Amino acid sequence: MADLRTNIAGIESPNPFWLASAPPTNSGYQVQRAFEAGWGGAVWKTLGDPILNVSSRFAAVSFNGQKVAGFNNIELITDRPLEVNLKEIYETKKRFPNHAIIASLMVEPRQEAWHEIVKRVEEVGVDGLELNFGCPHGMAERGMGAASGQVPALVEQQTYWVKEVAKTPVIVKLTPNITDITATAEAAVNGGADAISMINTINSLAGVDLNSWNTIPHVGGKGAHGGYCGPAVKPIALNMVGECARNSRINVPISGIGGISNWQDAAEFMLMGSTSVQVCTAAMHHGFRIVEDMIDGLNNYLDEKGISSVKEIIGKSVPKYSDWGDLDLNYKVVANINNEVCINCNKCHIACEDTSHQCIDMLTDSNGNKMLKVREEDCVGCNLCSIVCPVDGAIDMIELPNELVPMTWNERQHAVGAVACEIDIASK
Ligand SMILES: Cc1cc2nc3c(=O)[nH]c(=O)nc-3n(C[C@H](O)[C@H](O)[C@H](O)COP(=O)(O)O)c2cc1C
Repeated sequence: MADLRTNIAGIESPNPFWLASAPPTNSGYQVQRAFEAGWGGAVWKTLGDPILNVSSRFAAVSFNGQKVAGFNNIELITDRPLEVNLKEIYETKKRFPNHAIIASLMVEPRQEAWHEIVKRVEEVGVDGLELNFGCPHGMAERGMGAASGQVPALVEQQTYWVKEVAKTPVIVKLTPNITDITATAEAAVNGGADAISMINTINSLAGVDLNSWNTIPHVGGKGAHGGYCGPAVKPIALNMVGECARNSRINVPISGIGGISNWQDAAEFMLMGSTSVQVCTAAMHHGFRIVEDMIDGLNNYLDEKGISSVKEIIGKSVPKYSDWGDLDLNYKVVANINNEVCINCNKCHIACEDTSHQCIDMLTDSNGNKMLKVREEDCVGCNLCSIVCPVDGAIDMIELPNELVPMTWNERQHAVGAVACEIDIASK
């Protein structure tokens, strides 16, 4: 069995699977049951002011029969008094000394407010702090959450204030509602963050009821934008983790969050640079016991690969993630249809004919049977036919031998620039 123990900026946990700050971590009862089920850590539901919420809070997007492909909420931070949460954190930490308990915090952007809450939560024995600069709704209207998290100077300043008094590691949780997340990640690092976590939820409206014309969800006939999460946001989150992981100025560990539903998702986030992973929607959809499969699956994966510790996979895909300008323009793949497996549904032909490069021909063989064949010379290797194909193994994308020297856009521009320079010099 591989060693799943995790250490992120000094916060230790028996495995990398943490519950994200959200309804699953709302109380001591829940967090203790989660630890019993196997979760390695929990970021407590965000503590702070004010204590208020609306009724009718969640909505989900189902897609083609899959329930909760995306999840939307207009919930604010905890609506339980700070004293009650602090007492339960203390009791939970006492019962589970080896599990990670992180206090998620959100207060108004004032030095004294941050100092006060940090001191109070550290007194009850938390292992670390997570600064919630991410909630997109409700709190943002009051200058907190995403409103702070979208302004790098405010991220840096508030992180700095927290670090002035914090004795435990400080994780800054970033909002994805920003054009370039590396700007706020760098600001967090400049403010002294020990780690960063991402993503919080994405601005969204789940839908509109076609009968009542109300938004989904609505509060007495009125709606407001919410935060989107769940499986649908995973690619957005994974890119943001990758962008931060490959940026040399963001030299702190990352806790990856966003659409993680199983051990494979978790492993992808770790390969892309996450030291720990956090889960919310999947736990809300399926319950705490999903962590059992996550632990078993990750263990088996590491064993099969002959890897003794989960730490060894962190960031292994980061060097493979780069700018478009670094991709080899001479690399080529083409589609190949396996006619033994193909069911002649023609989806690939339609997709290619209508929306791609018109390079799949419909032929008739000597027995009069219809068959599909790719004209390799016209195929650009876009993958669309293999994406729409309903049968596994019917279309493979095949790498063609590269007869040309690898050449990236950046190298090409460099070479063109050098030639232009030579012409310029020669003409003088
Ligand atoms: C109902 C709900 C409430 C949430 N409340 C908080 C919160 O209080 N603090 C916070 O930092 N994030 C909060 N989040 C965001 C999650 O911690 C997490 O960042 C996000 O849901 C993405 O992870 P997921 O795709 O696994 O759900 C909340 C999410 C949901 C769905």
